[in-house]
Amino acid sequence: MILYFTGTGNTKFVAEYIADHVGDDCVNLNDVLKFKRPLRFNSVKPFVFCAPIYAWRFPKLIEKVISRAELTGSEQIYYIATMGSQTGDFEYSLEKLAYAKEMAYMGACGVPMPNNFINGSELPTPEEAEVKITASLPLMKTLSDRIMQGAMIEKFDDTPFAGLASGTVNYMFNRFFISSDKYTVSEDCVSCGKCESVCPVNNIKLSGSGIPQFRSYCIGCYSCVNRCPQEAINIGKKTEGRRRYSAPEYSDWKNEGKITE
Ligand SMILES: Cc1cc2nc3c(=O)[nH]c(=O)nc-3n(C[C@H](O)[C@H](O)[C@H](O)COP(=O)(O)O)c2cc1C
Repeated sequence: MILYFTGTGNTKFVAEYIADHVGDDCVNLNDVLKFKRPLRFNSVKPFVFCAPIYAWRFPKLIEKVISRAELTGSEQIYYIATMGSQTGDFEYSLEKLAYAKEMAYMGACGVPMPNNFINGSELPTPEEAEVKITASLPLMKTLSDRIMQGAMIEKFDDTPFAGLASGTVNYMFNRFFISSDKYTVSEDCVSCGKCESVCPVNNIKLSGSGIPQFRSYCIGCYSCVNRCPQEAINIGKKTEGRRRYSAPEYSDWKNEGKITE
């Protein structure tokens, strides 16, 4: 069973590629979280958790989901991250989680995908994104093959001071950087409600006058900022005028013949 969490679609793309190649079910954890469905999953095939990297680690919320989930059937667990370029040592806490669940840790790997960290830097154009995703297709194939064979997977990216990045820096990031207070909504907002529907943690509610209101549960996926059709949501002044990013759909790429193996 392939279970994924996504902010802007990269992880959904990778999870759907793998599910299609190994012939397994794909579970959208955004829906599980949004609609507060039970964290109980049964699968005869290995569990493959897929999530984006936030500050050199899986999102804290997803680590919590994995820790709390009741997994029955298979006793094997794989982890696949999508990342701009560095995963730190994200596998360290995940390996411990697998052992705490008395499951076999089958390895972890980061797949380079277009960067969606909009308050960090300019995001890729659709053309640049396509080049990056295309370059990662062989890795998605290798990971699918190894999962099908029941073989371990290994990561290949390298982060200087990985322990520090995934430890102290990640802690500071979650503690001080992620905050709902920083969001602004411009007058371009047309109250379409897209932000409310894409927020995986129900952090956004439209007010009586239709203006998005942010509560205090933000996990920093930036789905609202990147997917607002009016580009009306910003993180302060930093992201104003910056290009937004949403991943292409795996099914479209397949239909268009861009997935060759
Ligand atoms: C809050 C935040 C923090 C991020 N931190 C990292 C990071 O530490 N290393 C990295 O390579 N990419 C980082 N990224 C980029 C994402 O991991 C990458 O674009 C990922 O594929 C997004 O997946 P999604 O489209 O499924 O949300 C970060 C993105 C966000 C939004």
